[in-house]
Amino acid sequence: MKKEIKRLAVLTSGGDAPGMNAAIRAIVRNAFNNDLHIYGIQRGYEGLINGDIRRLETSDVSNIIHRGGTILKTARSQRFMTSEGRKKAYENLVDMDIDAIIAIGGNGTLTGAKIFIEEYPDVRIVGLPGTIDNDLFGTDFTIGFDTALNTAVQAVDKIRDTADSHNRLFFVEVMGRHSGYIALYTAIAGGAGGVLIPEEDASLDDLVKLLKKGAKRSKLFSIVIVAEGNHLGNVYDIAKKVEEKVDFYDDIKVTVIGHLQRGGSPSAFDRILASVLGFHSVEALLEGKTGLALGIKNNNVHYTPFGEAITKQKVVNMDMLRMAHILAQ
Ligand code: F6P
Repeated sequence: MKKEIKRLAVLTSGGDAPGMNAAIRAIVRNAFNNDLHIYGIQRGYEGLINGDIRRLETSDVSNIIHRGGTILKTARSQRFMTSEGRKKAYENLVDMDIDAIIAIGGNGTLTGAKIFIEEYPDVRIVGLPGTIDNDLFGTDFTIGFDTALNTAVQAVDKIRDTADSHNRLFFVEVMGRHSGYIALYTAIAGGAGGVLIPEEDASLDDLVKLLKKGAKRSKLFSIVIVAEGNHLGNVYDIAKKVEEKVDFYDDIKVTVIGHLQRGGSPSAFDRILASVLGFHSVEALLEGKTGLALGIKNNNVHYTPFGEAITKQKVVNMDMLRMAHILAQ
């Protein structure tokens, strides 16, 4: 028989993502709606190990829907990767009579959750996809991606003004160690002259060819979007190598947008996505679900077993990449 849930806890772990607060708000409000006691765990799995867990009231989540970051703070916990760390975490949950957890984060967060419920199956856990990278299998979009994308596109629009004025080539590095989503979408929305992503083994010569095509039609400036994890390496090295092969720009510059992409007020899309998934994560636990990551597919809430969510690769749409290369010409 399914154990009834009375006390549940929420945590955010890994890299923060805009919209995490909107998810926490929806979880707390729906927990209250179902007469559940809800707890907030500080700094992800670190707080679970340290017993840094406090009761949340519905007023604790007032006025946070528009705020970036996470009111619960976050961490990348090394200790949770050890069995001693997880044992301590379990003991804290038992001490506080907490039966279930909603874990918001990326691949590392779901991996931790999967191992934990394999060792301690009496705790129910469901996960929410919170990462700007949009690289989790089982969901069309992750919480935070849309905001990060809009931040990157706004930056590219501004760089375009100065690149145009000075006849310069700019390489703009965006986040994504393993995923090209931010880079590809930024390139398309920002009208970039080229894009380098981890999913494509692109060559420097192909990029140079593309830039030469632009120069032939008197394009005197350009912007190339580079994902952190691209195959050609460090963005400064790429810029240097390209500089040796092209002579039609006045100068070549590099801009790394970096952690600017992680902050800021979440977009309306991210607030809604986070609210929908947060709301449904409480219902999922009440229905007895565990070991599942919630996601959105074709505008419907979708559930993917942790094992699949962390091992199956969600790659960018290669046809969109083909399109981006053609539109860049
Ligand atoms: O996983 C999200 C992410 O923002 C990646 O895109 C980026 O490579 C990484 O986190 C940076 O992590 P940190 O803030 O720990 O340096």
